[in-house]
Amino acid sequence: MQNFKVCGYGFFSVLLVFDLRSLLLLFVIIFAYFLCCCKSHIYLSMAKVIYFEVATVDSKLAKPLNHRRPKRKTKLRKKYRKKFNPWNFQNVAALSIVLVVFFVISMWTLLWYFVCNSVVFFAALFRIANVEFIPEYRQKESREFASMAQNIEVVVNNVYRKSAVSKMYKHSVLSDLSSNNDGGILVYIWMIFVVPKAKKQYACEDCVGVILKDSIQTSLVNRTSVGYLYDLPVDFDSIVVNGNFILRKDYFMVIGFKCSNDLYAEQQGVNIYLSATASSGKTNCHIKLFALPGFLIHLSIESIDIEANDCVEDALIVYDSLMPIRSKVLYKICEPFNSSTMSFVSTGNVMYLSFKASLGKKGFTGNFAAIPQERNNILATQNALDYEGYIKSPYFPSFYPPKCNCTWGFRTPRTNLGIALKFYNYELKEKGLKGCDHGWWKINEKMYCGSYVDYQTIFYIASSKSEIEFQCSSKLSDPAFKAQYASYNINKPCPGDHFLCSTGLCIEISQRCNGVDDCNDESDEVFCSTPLKVCDSSNYQHPYFACNGIRDCEDGADEMNCTMVVPCTNITYKCKNNMCIRKRNAKCDGVSDCLDNSDESNCGCGSKSQGKSRIVGGANADDAEWPWQVSLHFSGTLYCGASVISKEWLLSAAHCFGTEKLSDPRPWLAYLGMRVQGNPKFFSEIRRIVVHEYYNSRSFDYDIALLQLKNTWPKSLSSVIQPICIPSIIQSVQSGDKCWVTGWGKKSEGDSESPSILQEAEVEIVSQTVCRMRYGPLSSRMICAGVASGKKDACRGDSGGPLSCPEKSGGKWFLIGIVSWGVGCGRPNLPGVYTRVSKFASWIQNYVV
Ligand code: ARG
Repeated sequence: MQNFKVCGYGFFSVLLVFDLRSLLLLFVIIFAYFLCCCKSHIYLSMAKVIYFEVATVDSKLAKPLNHRRPKRKTKLRKKYRKKFNPWNFQNVAALSIVLVVFFVISMWTLLWYFVCNSVVFFAALFRIANVEFIPEYRQKESREFASMAQNIEVVVNNVYRKSAVSKMYKHSVLSDLSSNNDGGILVYIWMIFVVPKAKKQYACEDCVGVILKDSIQTSLVNRTSVGYLYDLPVDFDSIVVNGNFILRKDYFMVIGFKCSNDLYAEQQGVNIYLSATASSGKTNCHIKLFALPGFLIHLSIESIDIEANDCVEDALIVYDSLMPIRSKVLYKICEPFNSSTMSFVSTGNVMYLSFKASLGKKGFTGNFAAIPQERNNILATQNALDYEGYIKSPYFPSFYPPKCNCTWGFRTPRTNLGIALKFYNYELKEKGLKGCDHGWWKINEKMYCGSYVDYQTIFYIASSKSEIEFQCSSKLSDPAFKAQYASYNINKPCPGDHFLCSTGLCIEISQRCNGVDDCNDESDEVFCSTPLKVCDSSNYQHPYFACNGIRDCEDGADEMNCTMVVPCTNITYKCKNNMCIRKRNAKCDGVSDCLDNSDESNCGCGSKSQGKSRIVGGANADDAEWPWQVSLHFSGTLYCGASVISKEWLLSAAHCFGTEKLSDPRPWLAYLGMRVQGNPKFFSEIRRIVVHEYYNSRSFDYDIALLQLKNTWPKSLSSVIQPICIPSIIQSVQSGDKCWVTGWGKKSEGDSESPSILQEAEVEIVSQTVCRMRYGPLSSRMICAGVASGKKDACRGDSGGPLSCPEKSGGKWFLIGIVSWGVGCGRPNLPGVYTRVSKFASWIQNYVV
């Protein structure tokens, strides 16, 4: 067990002391100045005081010298002594003025220093080329470290003291040196600025970074990124400067358990145990991990005890550096995980762990080891036939780092055989103009982007010879993936009577156009003609008609025997007791269908208290008409909509929280039971935002997020606040079904103002086939709704809000869609695109019980 030594404030306290000392000095100067300046005003009384003291001393000496002194002077002194009273009004007034002025000046200075200024720390990292790392650089007490520190600090001081921010710049301190596996050393420094609040914008991260970058004289001759910062050969491309406002608070303010440690993996492959536990108080640990130069760090986290609150209070953050630099985050663990371990790999031989936790018993355990770098160009030339083996992401099954590169080569025995790659939760799509977020692939000179999905896909390479190159391209570490490879017949990828899905899967021809998404991307369900309503025995069983709650056949045969227990398939309703029935819309329809009655439990949702029941082309909603409608405000501004789905959970769109700033729950407020903006019946802060792990910001796939409220809404408000029902995964909606979209979004595309009254508009579900004709490929997690003329649609500001549809039998309202995207607003033949909520029924259930 590794015990962390409890540390004090380290060198930060030195910085603080340094600043306080200068402050004290300032006071003394001000006081001296004050004495000089104010001399004339209080001269008389001061003179008396001073004289009085001199006289006292003199008088002590006076006796033996008495005979030498002229009598007149002694008389004069006696006169003064008699007359002088230090507590007379004049003296007390003068003293008080001095004290008051001194007090006011001190207070003002303190106030100015701490209120009008902020101390801002910047973490900077760069590579110095042409310097070899020596073991002495690890020891901060060593002469070598000290001389390197002095050299670097002088250079950085020179740069900033001659820059536009020189007045704010205080000094820099070298924090660490590490070896760079590809040559040179990496330098980590803290730069300290005292920034007047009014001038905060001049000390921005980019502004400070640019100064360092601009000071590098790059030599265009040798065309490398290494230039000179005074006499230091610095790699221009390696410079990262990060403002650390939050960190400063972490370092100084946390009272409770603090730990810091430097741990070394001296031998390859030997696991070193890691743990941090705190039983009470706040925890704040900073752990630096080092491996031998040339090696990487493999970190495994085995268990973690923290509260899930989006890393606001509890977090284990893994950095690919020796300092908490934002752009070097490898991964943030914000909540306990279910899997047995989570492991990560660094890109260099160092890692930095920051573990913070609020009150309570918190901690984590794990281990780390030095591992060799996986070499590129793993060339596996295969005679593939049938599934032969796997290609795996680097360092499988660990998360792979943001920087990596692998290549694989395949050769099949015959020219008519290509290579098929079967991925389990990953998909390759042709690369568009935008970059790739989760892996960049070059396959036989063509570019593809990878993304994570929750189903299998098969990628076919129609060539007997293939070269595959994979490059990591995400900001953080990405989860591992693997693909099974096999050869396939280029002319006939699927067996005889099978249909080839766009996901690469082969499905039986009978599954095509059966109303069920068998391909996982609905490629088997588009461009299907509506099945004829011929109510013979073969047709009434068609999933399009059977057990969907609508009597299609005159004799009602299509709706018969729907609650009989049948084997479970992907078109059956699963009761809690794991028995399945064919009735698709069994959930909360007012009829007990499951033997255990589970289809009618938890149905306190989807009831509207109002009878009648911008959105573009909408009308003002009535009071409490859409009791699940939520308005989400970010830093005081209306940003998105959401729906109430339980006492403490809301459902919204992932793209509302798509940036680092927006994914912080603290600036968000949720307004519930509101019709007119500013008049909510209830509001709450957000405890946690769960963005779907497969959300793809480029395609808007998996555009769904859960928000946990800090405070639950009271029962007494249930006439104005109500959850909406979540559809089951097989709940059917059909094109032409009428639903309502609601929100405070723009009333038309060009509007700059948003309406203050909640808007509602009735729209129709548009079939996937028609919608694909308008927009091109859509994922099966999307559903379209609109009206042919356009005119009625959601618009900017409605995102995340509900598309509410009434269930035919039972009359409850279901959240069929979440406002996601569209081209413009309310344009003819361009319907709104919504997140298809039924696809996420079990994902939602994982969080909302
Ligand atoms: N993405 C938009 C938002 O942030 C919603 C757009 C919906 N557009 C549409 N035409 N339906 O509010």
